[in-house]
Amino acid sequence: MNITGLITLDLEYEIKTLKKELNAVLLAHYYQESEIQDIADFVGDSLELSRKAASTNADVIVFAGVHFMAETAKILSPKKQILIPDINAGCSLAEGCPAPLFKQWRDAHPGYVSITYINCSAEVKALSDIICTSSNAEKIIRQIPADKKILFAPDKNLGNYLKKKTGRDMEIWQGTCVVHETFSLKKLIHLKSLYPDAKIIAHPECEEPVLEQSSFIGSTSALLKHVQQSADKTFIVATETGIIHQMEKACPDKTFIPAPPEESCACNQCPYMKLNTMEKVYLCMKNRTPEIILSDELIRKAIIPIQRMMEMSR
Ligand code: 13P
Ligand code: SF4
Repeated sequence: MNITGLITLDLEYEIKTLKKELNAVLLAHYYQESEIQDIADFVGDSLELSRKAASTNADVIVFAGVHFMAETAKILSPKKQILIPDINAGCSLAEGCPAPLFKQWRDAHPGYVSITYINCSAEVKALSDIICTSSNAEKIIRQIPADKKILFAPDKNLGNYLKKKTGRDMEIWQGTCVVHETFSLKKLIHLKSLYPDAKIIAHPECEEPVLEQSSFIGSTSALLKHVQQSADKTFIVATETGIIHQMEKACPDKTFIPAPPEESCACNQCPYMKLNTMEKVYLCMKNRTPEIILSDELIRKAIIPIQRMMEMSR
């Protein structure tokens, strides 16, 4: 079907119909466009979405997120069909940590425990000891025996934040997120001067100077929970702007201001997450492609560190 054909369709209705026909569940990350979040069966952070993917009774999981998230769903539910609206929805962190280089790094550090952020490929997961997300990383690190050194990949900002928080000896891969490294400290301080009562809240993938200005740091779900529980009324939000949709829905009486990027650009929107559109959600369900396919051997290896994460973050 061409784009003209799509314009005449009620995409929301068509997606809902296909969900029933396929016995599919639509999972969406908070960074998806608002329309996709609103039609999803579940919206969550990386950990919550992994848990949902592992527990659903659906035959098909439509994963409106990025590739590493859909891969994790496949590893956790290998018998299910996992569809992703745009197969090119990657992640700069995953792309900056190729498996052969990661293996060399691991081999150069014998005896280290390798804790790897979920924002990585299935191949890198298979080479890791334990996977973590931004919502359970600290909890997991605190369970590692004190005499063990830690290798943390691929996000250097999250790694440095955790190193400081836990005081652990950690070697850190030098990867970054294209969105979270974009926030301008100068503009952030200027914005704060315009809204003196506003609280700055940030995702731990942000650079240290931004984190130092923040009154609360956490995963997307933790940020959402925080604004709901806080007595404060105005927040400057240093993460991808998609989360603001759920914040505004949950707290219509509060004000949320996106933290400004360095350039005059939309760099605080994830270029990968935003590849997914309602049209592509519909088409992937109708055509049952693009689909995540992984070898049995890769799934067998990659599930081990993911299951460790699930056990350690209960
Ligand atoms: P969360 O697990 O906090 O949702 O983060 C995912 C992510 O990609 C952040 O950029
Ligand atoms: Fe990856 Fe950053 Fe996009 Fe999250 S926001 S998916 S870390 S590129």
